[in-house]
Amino acid sequence: MAIISSKQPQKEPKKRRGAAEKGGNYSVKEKALLEATASEEEGNNSKQEEKLRPQRLTEYIGQKDVKEVLEIALAAAKSRQEPLDHLLLYGPPGLGKTTMALILAQEMGVNCKITTAPALERPRDIVGLLVNLQPGDILFIDEIHRLSKITEEILYPAMEDFRIDITIGKGQSARIRSIPIQRFTLVGATTKVGALTSPLRDRFGLIQRLRFYEIEELSQIVKRTAQLLQTEISSEGATEIARRSRGTPRIANRLLKRVRDYAEVKSLGKITQALACEALELFNVDPCGLDWTDRRILSIMIENFNGGPVGLEAIAAATGEDAQTIEEVYEPYLLQIGYLKRTHRGRVATAAAWKHLGYPHPEKQLSLWQ
Ligand SMILES: Nc1ncnc2c1ncn2[C@@H]1O[C@H](COP(=O)(O)OP(=O)(O)OP(=O)(O)O)[C@@H](O)[C@H]1O
Ligand SMILES: [Mg+2]
Repeated sequence: MAIISSKQPQKEPKKRRGAAEKGGNYSVKEKALLEATASEEEGNNSKQEEKLRPQRLTEYIGQKDVKEVLEIALAAAKSRQEPLDHLLLYGPPGLGKTTMALILAQEMGVNCKITTAPALERPRDIVGLLVNLQPGDILFIDEIHRLSKITEEILYPAMEDFRIDITIGKGQSARIRSIPIQRFTLVGATTKVGALTSPLRDRFGLIQRLRFYEIEELSQIVKRTAQLLQTEISSEGATEIARRSRGTPRIANRLLKRVRDYAEVKSLGKITQALACEALELFNVDPCGLDWTDRRILSIMIENFNGGPVGLEAIAAATGEDAQTIEEVYEPYLLQIGYLKRTHRGRVATAAAWKHLGYPHPEKQLSLWQ
């Protein structure tokens, strides 16, 4: 399987905080890379990340429901000798969307062309990709909610009838020419399924949501990665890293690498639970997996807004984080573990969040006095 990537070069992760604050042309993912959640290593060591990706569906841990649906789709497509239906994968960053697209190409025995919506600004970018597809190829478009209108309109007939309509000439003499293209599968990935236009969303035959991983699943991922990195780890050590990984494989792999560095530098040998705790405390990852920014968001909500309800923009202004980054990168996990609630009047830090950060909850206090 050939992986042909036409991703734009990642913007340099220097000037981390300043660049992200400006907003500029950074996407949420780029911002996330610039911010505290992601280490610079992710940008630089993407080759190493490639090595850690599972290659086959059977190696893909967790996401049982999605896997079942895709197994059936794969078997049906293979028996009919047709390409897979177009697939939309959505969910927070780092849960395995790109990995899944590459696995599907591998399972179908086809090429996977990888691109991202911001790289497809001009019509000729998408046309160039589409006309060069081989029969059955997978075209993976990351951040698909960010497609320009014109690119989206070129995609509609390409997805539906495997043809592209090109306007030749201008004004009255303008004619539309249809060019047939090979049958292909579009795999779209997004963190914001709600931001997709409905004509685009409706053209996907399969729409699947990736969910956060269970601790047991993450622990298996950590063990698998440790094996690939030739690092010794106990089951308890793997579980400790899993517990602090915010339900996300990419974070699990990253934390494992940090703990491995710690163990190596201190010549401590095998990664045990105690060693994992010690190392992760040092890297400021708390027992629930919250990092400095998560804790800052929650503590500002509690200290400045008495726990809320408070609007997203107000949280963004008070923390100096970008509202979109808070919404797409930080919030999903805080909602998942029940530390944050969304109400129609704004965000609320729950009693569990107050407790976790060591603040006495006002209502609980009251009941003590009664
Ligand atoms: N189910 C899984 N089993 C094992 N490893 C996984 C799994 N899912 C993801 N990973 C690991 O996590 C890393 C991140 O996954 P991937 O790049 O596919 O996430 P993503 O959803 O595309 O993220 P983004 O939204 O940021 O593009 C991969 O390098 C891979 O090693
Ligand atoms: Mg990806």
